[in-house]
Amino acid sequence: RYYTQLNGSKLEVLYFPVIDSTNSEAERQLSHRRKSPFAIASSCQTKGRGRLGREWHSATADNLYLSVGFEPNIPPQALQHFTLWAGIHICRALQSLTPNAALKIKWPNDLHCDGRKFAGMLTEAKMDADSLRSIIFGIGLNVNSNPTKYPSELRKSATSLYAVGGKELSMNQVAAKVIIAIQTAYDTCILDNGSESLVEAWAPLSSLSGKTVTAIMNNQEITGTASGIDETGALILIAADGSVQKVRAGDVTLKK
Ligand code: BTN
Repeated sequence: RYYTQLNGSKLEVLYFPVIDSTNSEAERQLSHRRKSPFAIASSCQTKGRGRLGREWHSATADNLYLSVGFEPNIPPQALQHFTLWAGIHICRALQSLTPNAALKIKWPNDLHCDGRKFAGMLTEAKMDADSLRSIIFGIGLNVNSNPTKYPSELRKSATSLYAVGGKELSMNQVAAKVIIAIQTAYDTCILDNGSESLVEAWAPLSSLSGKTVTAIMNNQEITGTASGIDETGALILIAADGSVQKVRAGDVTLKK
């Protein structure tokens, strides 16, 4: 059992060497009335979940699987930007550990470096009629793993902080930085204690800006140059004819 501390408030971290999914464990802890916020950390997941029903490969050694559970009891609209803010604060916090590699966010939920993904984020929430009952924010972060050992289907598209930064990192330090970044995102976004603009905070961290990307919207493929996000968090695409399209959900891919 470990603790991190932000502005004097302690957060308990429960570590499991192996677990099915840290998001599922956080859910169980909430249903057993563990006092929130708390974090669940693990080195290996047997049933890691990704976005859109995908599996999250979680068997490679030296990575971090982490979830933080919150019980905010406030209107659900506050949730809209949470993952975007978490990505911003996590990227900023980790950047100090890899000074020679630019860490970026690929809209909406991935952390990238040099065009390869080193982390994915998954926010799961439960609501009552008009308030958020719980938020479980999970991140799978490739820390000290060696990408040449990844399963072949991931080798070209995935990387780790070790691979991009050139040195091994302390897992405890990485975990503490990420948990504090998630608490900061919660404070600024969910509890509304921040004054920074989402659009401005996002701009320097976007991995897609200026790149040609495709997205599927209403079953149609659209292509355009990505240019930041708007204040609702939607990705702005400028099509070849100059028209502006906004992507609100789903994934985008870089046009080859
Ligand atoms: C994605 O890119 O699709 C999001 C992946 C999120 C994976 C993390 S690992 C820790 C937490 N527990 C899970 O089962 N999933 C998230």
